[in-house]
Amino acid sequence: MNFRNLNPLYLLLLCSLVSCQDEQEKAAFEERKIAFNSEWQFHLNDSVQDTDTISENTNWRTLNVPHDWSIEGDFSPEHPAGTGGGALPGGLGWYKKSFTLEEKDSTKVTSVMFDGVYHNSEVWINGNYLGKRPNGYMGFQYELTPYLNYGETENELLVKVDNSKQPNSRWYSGSGIYRNVWLITTDKLHVTKWGTFVTTPEVSKDSASVNIELKIANAYPKSKTAIIRTTFFQAANEVASVSEKIKIEANSEEKITQRTSIKNPKLWSVEEPQLYTAVTEISIDGEVVDQYKTPFGIRSFEFDLEEGFILNGKQTKIKGVCLHHDLGPLGAAINTRAIERQLEIMKEMGVNGIRTAHNPPAPELLDLCDKMGFIVQDESFDIWEQGKTEYDYSNHWDEWYELDHRDMLLRDRNHPSIFMWSIGNEIPEQWSERGAELGRKLANITRNIDSTRPITAAMNPPIHTGDEDVTLQFDEPQQPNALAGSGALDIIGYNYAHQTYPKHQVNFPNTPFIATETTSALATRGYYEFPSDTIKVWPVRWDIPFDGGNPDNTISAFDQVRTPWGSTHEETWKVIKKHDFLSGFYIWTGFDYLGEPTPYTWPSRSSYFGIVDLAGFPKDSYYMYKSEWTNEYVLHILPHWNWEEGQTVDIWAYYNNADEVELFVNGESKGIKRKEGDDLHVMWRFPYKPGTLKAISRKDGNIVLEKEIKTAGEPAKLNLEADRKTIKADGQDLSFITVTITDEDGTLAPRADNLVHFELSKGGKIVGVASGDPTNHESFKGTKHSALSGKVLVIVQSGKDAGSVELTATSEGLEAATTTINFE
Ligand code: GAL
Repeated sequence: MNFRNLNPLYLLLLCSLVSCQDEQEKAAFEERKIAFNSEWQFHLNDSVQDTDTISENTNWRTLNVPHDWSIEGDFSPEHPAGTGGGALPGGLGWYKKSFTLEEKDSTKVTSVMFDGVYHNSEVWINGNYLGKRPNGYMGFQYELTPYLNYGETENELLVKVDNSKQPNSRWYSGSGIYRNVWLITTDKLHVTKWGTFVTTPEVSKDSASVNIELKIANAYPKSKTAIIRTTFFQAANEVASVSEKIKIEANSEEKITQRTSIKNPKLWSVEEPQLYTAVTEISIDGEVVDQYKTPFGIRSFEFDLEEGFILNGKQTKIKGVCLHHDLGPLGAAINTRAIERQLEIMKEMGVNGIRTAHNPPAPELLDLCDKMGFIVQDESFDIWEQGKTEYDYSNHWDEWYELDHRDMLLRDRNHPSIFMWSIGNEIPEQWSERGAELGRKLANITRNIDSTRPITAAMNPPIHTGDEDVTLQFDEPQQPNALAGSGALDIIGYNYAHQTYPKHQVNFPNTPFIATETTSALATRGYYEFPSDTIKVWPVRWDIPFDGGNPDNTISAFDQVRTPWGSTHEETWKVIKKHDFLSGFYIWTGFDYLGEPTPYTWPSRSSYFGIVDLAGFPKDSYYMYKSEWTNEYVLHILPHWNWEEGQTVDIWAYYNNADEVELFVNGESKGIKRKEGDDLHVMWRFPYKPGTLKAISRKDGNIVLEKEIKTAGEPAKLNLEADRKTIKADGQDLSFITVTITDEDGTLAPRADNLVHFELSKGGKIVGVASGDPTNHESFKGTKHSALSGKVLVIVQSGKDAGSVELTATSEGLEAATTTINFE
């Protein structure tokens, strides 16, 4: 069967109808982009013995990328990245990959695309220098064609990654080729890199106008006449198509715009993230020579001065979280399932927005946000001209910022989940004229590439000079900072200072508002200390009270320890909830992240700000948000029930869909509580007695939920629970297995910190272990880890063969546990 002259979409349909005889030929024809991740050779320079070169004597290790060498290192306060960088090593690494190409590809254009290399990468092909890219978060592509060998002669791609100068980041960056690599092979006549832009200028229930701008390159030495046809699909259904004939001169590029409309469009929303795909085909003499797919969505939105964020005509509060790029125990090395799990955990809590703090994210995160329905704020920089750490991006700003910013926009602008661009986070220049000037430059670049989305910046409170008390209430308009007043921003965005939000309309009567970053509350999952017999709670493991300069902040109740610049979870949400004109917020942060244990330092090596810990286990505040943001029934009580007899303890409950909660200790009622006014929890206070704490929520007198916490006996048993017991046999997929330590009766042992060992039978791999304890120094890449508050996580990655593996967890003095994970 000759597939060459068949439209590949029909081919795909055909292949799914009849079992396709020649899958390989189909794949070769369809894919202009193949994963180029396997079988790389890696060498980490020894800074003492090696210079920054490699030689015949260099020892290479074979591995697959995405790869992060820092996460494989030991924690130490001596690493120059400091605890801010996760107390893990940097260094200089080399990667090389050998490959052959078929003769038939010698007439094509071949490029390599790196989605992200941290950082200062330089690339060579067959000894020819291709270029460098200081920025560690922006993807880049090099054309390889002129230097390639075809047939049996091998090619060698060599990549140098220099993360040796530290500190260069305020958080853990990771090191290496930590995102995907792609080999892209196209006809000489092709759609260029990020060469499409779909917009939907008019959207109504009945119809959406759709434009697609296309950039087409002709690398032939002759002019070419081609048919450019774009077909629009909603799932597998063709909904519109448009085609035209164009002539492109030799060795040149042409831009065209195709226009059509789609009837009764299915709108993208947070609840129903409907997606479309534009498939552009270039044909010469009836043969399709190039195909480019652009996923997109149709939605209308605005940021309104009175109503906040309006999506498809409906007022929608942005309930977002900021996320750094690391994946906890997996480090910075991206894995699609690991990102998906993070987003699932966020979605279950009711989160509908993600801010990509403070850099362009992995493309896979944006794809998932498109599919799962998140309102994304895509951010380009944490640093402009003025640095925040010695070797950071400020050293490269002048030469690279325009390209880096432009590339982020080009790469990301088709994602329906993105609703605003942030040109920077807490940029020190924001207070000066230079900041206004740079802000306008970035805004111009942005508007030239995408005029459909507003621009914001995550400023420091622009009405606060740094000296005065942010709790001041302003009755008169305040002098904004230079960036806020520069005209660069369509939305005023600033971090923290929730006390000032109600006055936004006074200070900025003409510009809508988004709280780009809020809260920064500190907590460690399951960890509560009641110092002495007082009722004050210290819910952070590294239990040195944080002297933030405000005595009320040193120890607070369960709603987390407040930093002077932040708030408790409840405080900021109450303000955001109250005022329609506040479009929403992005809480710092959804997950704990590596590095920045602020306000602590060694032995802490990861942050305390997350609503969910580094292992992916929710802290208590998760349930406060869930009770507010979802319709799912919530009744969550805290703390655990293992205290010293007679100690006075506060007990909190978060609940929803009910009028009241009654609490019992060993069957004795401690009273009924109801949330009053804007309360987000209820509380009881009484001396501790061991036994059973039971809460019952009721609506109209009927029981809604019951929740019990028992006093646990000594740790006795291990239990394993996989988030998915069957995963794909693709060598990538992950099963996240929670280990719970219980007493004899199966009650969680809330203070258990036993060291748990893991063993996996042949066929899969243990790729990460974690507990969520920011002070733990055991390797995330090992096969043992100490529990925190009775829990540990172990992550198993599938092999490429179908089958099953057995995971066994053991710990001295505890009953072992085993579970089976299947690969299909
Ligand atoms: C903010 C900053 C974040 C993080 C946070 C910690 O000011 O934008 O990157 O450092 O503080 O509270």
